[in-house]
Amino acid sequence: MIRPILKMGTPSLMEPSVKWPKKLFGSPELKALLDDMKETMIAASGAGLAAPQIGENVQVVIFELKNNARYPDEAPIPFTVLINPVLAPLGDEVEDGWEGCLSVPGMRGVVPRATKLRYTGFDENGGKIDRTVSGFHARVVQHECDHLDGVLYPMRMTDMSQFGFTEVLFPELVGGDDD
Ligand code: NI
Repeated sequence: MIRPILKMGTPSLMEPSVKWPKKLFGSPELKALLDDMKETMIAASGAGLAAPQIGENVQVVIFELKNNARYPDEAPIPFTVLINPVLAPLGDEVEDGWEGCLSVPGMRGVVPRATKLRYTGFDENGGKIDRTVSGFHARVVQHECDHLDGVLYPMRMTDMSQFGFTEVLFPELVGGDDD
């Protein structure tokens, strides 16, 4: 079921999420949540979605980048379910890059993020995930996992002159989508 995406200003988006219970890996509850998240992300042409964005404050995120018109220049990212994630930046290198968010529709901003990142967590069946990534993949993971701490990307920005409407900043990207 496609669920409404909560927008910035909704108090629950700013609240930390609780860990998904271990005994509920592989459960019908988790499958139902993930089905809704996938449908909602695809319908909105998102590159990722965190459970709090549909009103569920649990540590579950999904992401994928594949032929996405909103991010035409980035390398693909395999579809990933990431539960109870732990992020560890590798090195001190930070890079600026443009981000958007389905909870901040119609806008983009430049956000500094760790360039290289190791992330660990679990898939929907409790299988361990352990990846070292960089670039846009690292950025997407940091963005999605920030949602689990109640952080939206504008709260990470350091130069508010690089925040604006997608239709103004990137007129070539604006199609039927809101964001
Ligand atoms: Ni977001």
